[in-house]
Amino acid sequence: MQPVRLCVNGVEHDLVVHPLETLLRTLRDTMGLTGTKEGCGTGYCGACTVLLDGDAVNACLLLTVDADRKELVTIEGLADADGGLHPVQAAFVENSGLQCGYCTPGMILSAASLLAATPDPTDDAIRAGLSGNLCRCTGYQSIAASVHDAAQRLRDAGRSGERPGPRASIRSRA
Ligand code: FES
Ligand code: FES
Repeated sequence: MQPVRLCVNGVEHDLVVHPLETLLRTLRDTMGLTGTKEGCGTGYCGACTVLLDGDAVNACLLLTVDADRKELVTIEGLADADGGLHPVQAAFVENSGLQCGYCTPGMILSAASLLAATPDPTDDAIRAGLSGNLCRCTGYQSIAASVHDAAQRLRDAGRSGERPGPRASIRSRA
């Protein structure tokens, strides 16, 4: 077993994990953050996408020990500190960018990461940015529309280029 310190959604957690435990297992089973979904478990579907130091990664492929002392954001940490939806979340809701919702947490986090780097993406850039996230329901058109709308909302709010994550101060939890 191995000690790790994870900063998840702005809160530090000291844990002891098996060296081969995946981040997906730790987030869902140990920390109860079930917004991170398990689909294929092999890196193809993107349902388990979380942000690691701002980059979208598949939590099913990442060992928890490799996230030691890194900053993680899950879908539970994307909303504003006052509980209001993040602009990307609001855009997905208002543009019907989801149906069953299983792919949605990963889709939204990938979109947030894309928009932090590319505030006004083209259709092709959106397709490329979300190419690691599969959806079996929507046909992707409403998802692309959601991302365009999210980009506009972030620009209007002066939040273009902002790294997605909790806007509250970081605190520790034993
Ligand atoms: Fe991780 Fe599918 S569950 S990529
Ligand atoms: Fe059902 Fe995407 S909304 S898988």
